[in-house]
This record gives sequence, C-alpha cells and structure tokens, in this order.
Amino acid sequence: MSQHVSGSAPVGVVRGSKPAVGVMGAGWVGLVTAACFAELGHHVFVRDVDEKRIDALLAGHVPIHEPGLTELIHEYRDQLRFTLDPAELLAAARIIFVCVGTPSTRSGDADLSAVWRLIREIPRLSAPVTLVMKSTVPVGTGAKVRAELDAWGLEHVGYVSNPEFLAEGSAIRDVRRPSRIVIGSSDKNHGDAVEALYAGVDAPVRRTDVASAEMIKYASNAFLATKISFINEIANVCEETGADVAAVADGMGLDERIGPHFLHPGVGYGGSCFPKDVAALKQLAGNSGYHFELLNAVIEVNELQKRRVLTKLVWHLGPLRGKRVALLGLAFKPNTNDVREAASLVLASRLVAEGALVRAWDPVALAEAAPLLDEDVELCADVLDAVDGADAAIVVTEWPELRNLPLAEVRRVMRYPLIVDGRNALDADAVCAAGFAYEAIGRPRQSTMRSAAATSDRRLTMRPYLRLEPA
Ligand code: UGA
Repeated sequence: MSQHVSGSAPVGVVRGSKPAVGVMGAGWVGLVTAACFAELGHHVFVRDVDEKRIDALLAGHVPIHEPGLTELIHEYRDQLRFTLDPAELLAAARIIFVCVGTPSTRSGDADLSAVWRLIREIPRLSAPVTLVMKSTVPVGTGAKVRAELDAWGLEHVGYVSNPEFLAEGSAIRDVRRPSRIVIGSSDKNHGDAVEALYAGVDAPVRRTDVASAEMIKYASNAFLATKISFINEIANVCEETGADVAAVADGMGLDERIGPHFLHPGVGYGGSCFPKDVAALKQLAGNSGYHFELLNAVIEVNELQKRRVLTKLVWHLGPLRGKRVALLGLAFKPNTNDVREAASLVLASRLVAEGALVRAWDPVALAEAAPLLDEDVELCADVLDAVDGADAAIVVTEWPELRNLPLAEVRRVMRYPLIVDGRNALDADAVCAAGFAYEAIGRPRQSTMRSAAATSDRRLTMRPYLRLEPA
C-alpha cells in the first residue's frame, strides 16, 4: 500500500533539481528529518513498517506531538510520500536516512535489530546508494554495517554517519538552525553527497571518520546528562548549606567555559535519549574493557534525584499512607507527550507503594502515561481537579500552565497547602504569599509550616534531604 499525500506526483518522478531523499522510519526523528528536508526543497519518501502509522500520515494525521511538525508536513505535503514499501523509496531516492529506534536491550546495550532488518532489505541494486545513519548507534556500528554490506556484494552502497542533535519540543528549530552538522564517512564522495543536502542551512559542518561521528553523539548526550547530575548534586548540597542553587547556577554559567545551559536542577533527566544513551555509552566502554566510572555516578545521582521529592513530602506530611498527592506533569519535559523514562513514572510508582492516593494531570500526555501508571493512579484533565482535596501537589514537568497556576483557587481546594516544585518553576514569593508551604530543589526553605501528622513521625526529625556525614 502506498499513496501520495496529495496524490499529485507519480512514484519516482521528482520535480526540481534537488535530489530525492529517502527516510526509513516515520518516528519522531524520521518525520522531523523528512519535513525539514521537504522544506529545503527535496522530495522525501518516508517508509515505515507500521501500517497504522502510515495510514494516519496519509490521512493527514501526524501521530507525534512536536511543535510545528504537523504544520510543516501539511505545508510540504506535495513533496512528501509515505509508504510501507521499501522498494518504492529505493526506486526514487539515492540517499537513504536510517531513522529507526535503537532502544536499550536488557543488558543496557543499544538494540540494533531494527537497523539490521532495514539494511537486509536493501536490494542488490547496481546504482550507487548512500545509507545515512541518523539513529543513535554504538561506536563501531558503521564498521560492522560496512563489513556486512561488502559481504553481500554491496560495495557500491556508501555508509555515512550523520547523527541528529534534536531536542524534543524544539526539533524543527534545531534542524533549521543546528549547532553543528556532523558527517562521518570513509568515502569522501558519499560524505559530499550528504553535505550537499544541507545546502542552505547555516551551521558549522564537521567532516570526520565514521567512528568519531558516532562517538560525538554519545559523548554529547553523556556530557549534558553529566551536567544535569552535577547541578542536581550541587542543589542537594545547597539544601544542606543554605546556598541558593539558582544563584549558584547563574554565577557558574557566566563563565563561558561552563556556559549557562543544562544547569537547571530538578527531579532528574528523563526521555528517550539521555537515560538510554548514557547507559549505552557505559556498556560500550565496558564491552571494550574500559570502566567508565563517571557515568555510573551520573546514572546513580539521576535515579536518587527522582526519589528525593518523597523525603520532602514525608517531612511535611508524615507517613504517606492515605495522603492525597497531585502529580502535576507527566511528560519527561514540556512541549512533548513523551513519557519515556519520565520522573513522573518513578514518583507515581513510589507514592503508590507508600500508600498515597495519587491524582495526575498533564496537558497532553495522559493517554501515553496511562498504560505505564499503576491502575490506582487517577488521571485528571484539569489541574484543579487533580489538586482538589490534595495534601500536596508536586510539579514534575514545568508546563507553562503550572507557572501560571491560579494559586488562590488551588489553595482553596487543597486539603493541606503544600507545593513541592520539582523544577523550580514557580515564583516562590507568590506561592508563599498565597499561603502555601513551598519546597523547591536546592533553594532556601520558604516556609516551615508542617502538619501535626508530620511532627509525630520519628523520621521527620531529619531534614528532608540526605545528611552529609563527616568522613
Ligand atoms: C536530548 C538532547 O538535548 C539533544 O541534543 C539530543 O539530540 C536528544 O537528546 C537525542 O539524543 O535525540 P531531549 O531528550 O529531547 O534531547 O531533551 P532535553 O531537552 O535534552 O532534556 C532531557 C532531560 O533533561 C529532560 O528530562 C529535562 O527535563 C532534563 N533537563 C534538561 C534537566 O533536568 N535540567 C536541564 O538543565 C536540562
């Protein structure tokens, strides 16, 4: 089955002088890549194995929440063809982007089965084809693919690594104005062909060997995750020492060697990339005989950070059994409905295990979160509904709706006025002025209000964070 969205151009006929582009995989990376190449003037053939997904795209429905993506796909629908048939794509395009998922296996390595399936589908064409790896794959994958292609007599098929650096929620902007375009190839001509596709995009281009391009992607994500775990630990020490992490991060970020980005403390990083890629780099190092100690700490800090919120709740409320807790935000970050590895899932699960009654709200991710949450978690379409009767509200995702919470109304409907701001997203003064006890991450405590229930609990003689014991 295949159709053109607008039904205008026949298969293989490509108007204009720009080469046609093939995209294998109509997931988030594939669709963003396809839409942006269409915007650059290319005809793009997008293939996926998921019939429902292709049908949805053909019907004009974009099954992914990414700002601007639906609009772009609709605007350039005459240049986009969605299909289930790999042969159709291969007949029209000589440059094929591989944009399939590489989730973690049980061992923490990247699962490359979708990549291998796809490569095995390449017919033994005599025409030169360039395979371009956009999926995040372990260093060394390019060399393995090359060896396999050669073994099948496909020496004329080129292989290029062209990692993506797109962040969910800003992916279209990240393609239009990328920080860099990395092209790793062993054959200059194939690398040149890929570089030419980006004509018109203003960004530094780095040409490298394949392994280095693969490593640039992993090292970049692991470094950003390290920055987050570092500032989260600084925040935790700030809580012990009375410093304010917001002022600390600001003061650090002014040093251009450090930079202001990714110094925002919170409930830990989540999403489909950082947790998976940090684990994969750690495993890759281990498989190669190197123990990457720093990444162990990055992962461990992140796991503990998701759970620290509970200690703050207990400090105020005492044992959580029977307490009503509102989880505000389920997506792993704003502007996406992606809940993969979201801190909200860990928090919900811990709260349920402690016997709390959880009501959760998110503006776009309720459907995605539902199958991953305990069935006792109640899902609410409205923030006020989620906080109604609650003993505590936890800000898990910094959605704009939460920055502008109608505080007086929230205060009126909550049973006990406690807000734990897991993203330092709210205006502390306004929250306290509205009569709440307010807990943030790494910031001075704004209120010492505690319920009677809390003070009767032995555990609550502790401060709500880990104490650093002298060595
Ligand atoms: C990340 C990278 O930022 C992209 O460059 C990369 O291309 C992408 O992974 C990928 O490999 O495909 P993404 O996962 O969409 O992008 O999201 P980020 O904006 O990086 O946020 C990741 C997590 O870190 C979120 O949970 C966010 O809340 C958290 N975060 C981010 C912090 O806790 N503090 C910060 O200062 C920044």
